[in-house]
Amino acid sequence: MVDAQTFRNALRRFASGVTVVATREGERLLGMTVSAFCSVSLDPPLVLVSIDRKTTTHEAIVRTGVFAVSILERTQQPLADRFAGRLPVSDRFEGVRWRSGQSGAPVLEGALAYVDCRLWASYPGGDHTLFVGEVLEAGWRADGEPLLYYDGGYRCLQIEGER
Ligand SMILES: Cc1cc2nc3c(=O)[nH]c(=O)nc-3n(C[C@H](O)[C@H](O)[C@H](O)COP(=O)(O)O)c2cc1C
Repeated sequence: MVDAQTFRNALRRFASGVTVVATREGERLLGMTVSAFCSVSLDPPLVLVSIDRKTTTHEAIVRTGVFAVSILERTQQPLADRFAGRLPVSDRFEGVRWRSGQSGAPVLEGALAYVDCRLWASYPGGDHTLFVGEVLEAGWRADGEPLLYYDGGYRCLQIEGER
């Protein structure tokens, strides 16, 4: 089996977008930064997020059965930091603008795009759980650029030829 350091080093070379996955339990808003997000199926429309079983948001998604994925825009890097564990989970939404998706889960204002989901299936994935969500609602901004994550740091898109 591969050792943890080699595994990490290889996977750092995979560039991804950055999202905030969030849910709502009554008045309580919970969310975390997630890069392990992808689309799964068109019919029905399904997406997948891989969430560490130790996180507070994990338990909350299991209980509520809903989550929204906000795909962050380039200027939203402070939100990525905020939702990545620097702040206690209870403080992360303080001062953050959001609106409720169809499922009741919070969608961050200014996100480049979002999908609002009902939990469709959960699969064990080692120390993570793969949550597959059925997309109830989706939206996007025509302007703006994505926030990217690569080799342990945030990056911006550089269009070929614009160097
Ligand atoms: C860029 C970035 C991407 C991340 N992606 C994931 C991910 O895909 N899945 C995951 O479980 N944690 C991921 N994390 C870590 C979580 O954001 C972090 O552990 C979480 O906010 C802790 O939440 P908690 O306070 O509920 O435990 C990522 C962190 C960063 C900075």
